[in-house]
Amino acid sequence: MKRFTLLALTALAAGSALAAELKGDVAKGKEIATNVCAACHAADGNSGIAMYPKLSAQFSNYIFHQTKDIKDGKRTTGAAASMAPMVMGLSDQDIADVSAFYAKQFPKQGETNPKENPELGARIFRGGLADKKIPACMACHGPNGAGIPGGGTDILAYPRLGGQHKAYVVEQLKAYQSGRRENAIMADVAKRMSDEEMNAVANFIQGLH
Ligand code: HEC
Ligand code: HEC
Repeated sequence: MKRFTLLALTALAAGSALAAELKGDVAKGKEIATNVCAACHAADGNSGIAMYPKLSAQFSNYIFHQTKDIKDGKRTTGAAASMAPMVMGLSDQDIADVSAFYAKQFPKQGETNPKENPELGARIFRGGLADKKIPACMACHGPNGAGIPGGGTDILAYPRLGGQHKAYVVEQLKAYQSGRRENAIMADVAKRMSDEEMNAVANFIQGLH
């Protein structure tokens, strides 16, 4: 656990510095969301298509960093390459604005499929699997999957997961496992998980609110 804490603190320091630099304008962000992002993520961030992650109520610093990483070609998971050209013309201030807008949108509830092992999913999310040293997701992503802002700032460290599309969550876990998406904390978690466990916890997360 010690290593997790150190990493989280580093991320927190980086997040706070950025939050101090750029304050997002929600009204301007709404315009950008409508004109640029809505086609894929929906105007209120509650995308109905599994390959496009939901952005509603996500922490603004997390949205900011992921958007920058996709724009700069540092994050290439899934169909991120199709988003990169769409955001290429946005300034850091534009991205801060649209991030502030999506952070304020109301999340729409999803559903857990009762036939896809919701019991195992709930167990992993809430308590982890001690025999495989898989930690409880809840410890960092919150009991209702709302994520956890650290130190009073919207840090990027513990993103919101509740209601997220199952297929997207499975994709990200696999990307962390293989290193296609780089993050030391999540790589350590995902490397311990089987496909069955990823599917079960992602199914549970889809209905979590
Ligand atoms: C052409 C479709 C498209 C457009 C337009 C688009 N995106 Fe995306 N976006 C994607 C896809 C696909 C992903 C998922 C990539 C993956 O699977 O890892 C994504 C992922 C993201 C993520 C990461 C979410 C997470 O939970 O990690 C953020 C943040 C994001 N987009 C923000 C935006 C913003 C802000 C805009 C508008 C300025 C935008 N996107 C426009 C397709 C798009
Ligand atoms: C020690 C803290 C910690 C634990 C425990 C943890 N996570 Fe994470 N998780 C993170 C951090 C930090 C990120 C952001 C990583 C990044 O920036 O790519 C993240 C990101 C994610 C993402 C990507 C979200 C998105 O919108 O793209 C998914 C999916 C995820 N975690 C699922 C899980 C699951 C499932 C578990 C439990 C099996 C879990 N996490 C346990 C810290 C944690």
